[in-house]
Amino acid sequence: MYLLIPAAGSGKRMGASRNKLLLPLFGKPIIAWTLLAAKAAPSIHWIGIVAQPEEWQDFRDIAAGLGMGRTVRLIPGGKTRQESVYNGLQELPAVAERVLIHDGARCLATPELFDRCSEALLHCAGLIAAIPVKDTIKIVAPGTEIIQSTPDRSQLWAAQTPQGFDVETLKRCHETGREMGWEVTDDAALFEHCGLAVRIVQGEETNLKVTTPVDLAIAEFILRDRQKSATS
Ligand code: CTP
Ligand code: MG
Repeated sequence: MYLLIPAAGSGKRMGASRNKLLLPLFGKPIIAWTLLAAKAAPSIHWIGIVAQPEEWQDFRDIAAGLGMGRTVRLIPGGKTRQESVYNGLQELPAVAERVLIHDGARCLATPELFDRCSEALLHCAGLIAAIPVKDTIKIVAPGTEIIQSTPDRSQLWAAQTPQGFDVETLKRCHETGREMGWEVTDDAALFEHCGLAVRIVQGEETNLKVTTPVDLAIAEFILRDRQKSATS
């Protein structure tokens, strides 16, 4: 399976002075944990890291230090995640029929989750990892503090990555999205806008997206706990 890793953000909400994926987490850069999970997933044989060119050397050095054992390509990032994924899709080898897309910032996803998504993608054209929402979610009128409605929680799922797609179909959805000016925060939304089915694969509660300093602290706790279970 081909894997694209969007890693070209600036990590504004982390409040650091550089791309959060290069910040240390439990002894390694955040992106190293993401790459290690992909390395341990037998289904993944090609990895494209979408990153800003001025950071390519950092990403290259990190990947080299991990001995990835499969092709790792660097691809220029865009201004938005959507644009970064678009760039990634253009750089996939022509033989790539299906692709998984996984945020560099979801550094705690397990190899088993990658393999489960790869396997499920043999049977459908679009899927995402997701988990049932734990909080009650409110819809608030824009620019106000007034609640409009409360969607039925039993129908709500929190979207994660990996997200997997048929390459040709996803490329078409991205082109349509550009023509129509759709701005989306994940690739499933482009599929949905095009009226295509996207299936859910059970995600993982620990597969959080490291976004703020609190997430970094929680991620460290989870990694420490995993290390403890592995050595006991
Ligand atoms: N990403 C990307 N290209 C962009 C913006 C984001 O490849 N132009 C990537 C990020 O590197 C991250 C993933 O998309 O792995 C999810 O984005 P997010 O968590 O929002 O990261 P940032 O955009 O870096 O953070 P922030 O929104 O706080 O600035
Ligand atoms: Mg962002």
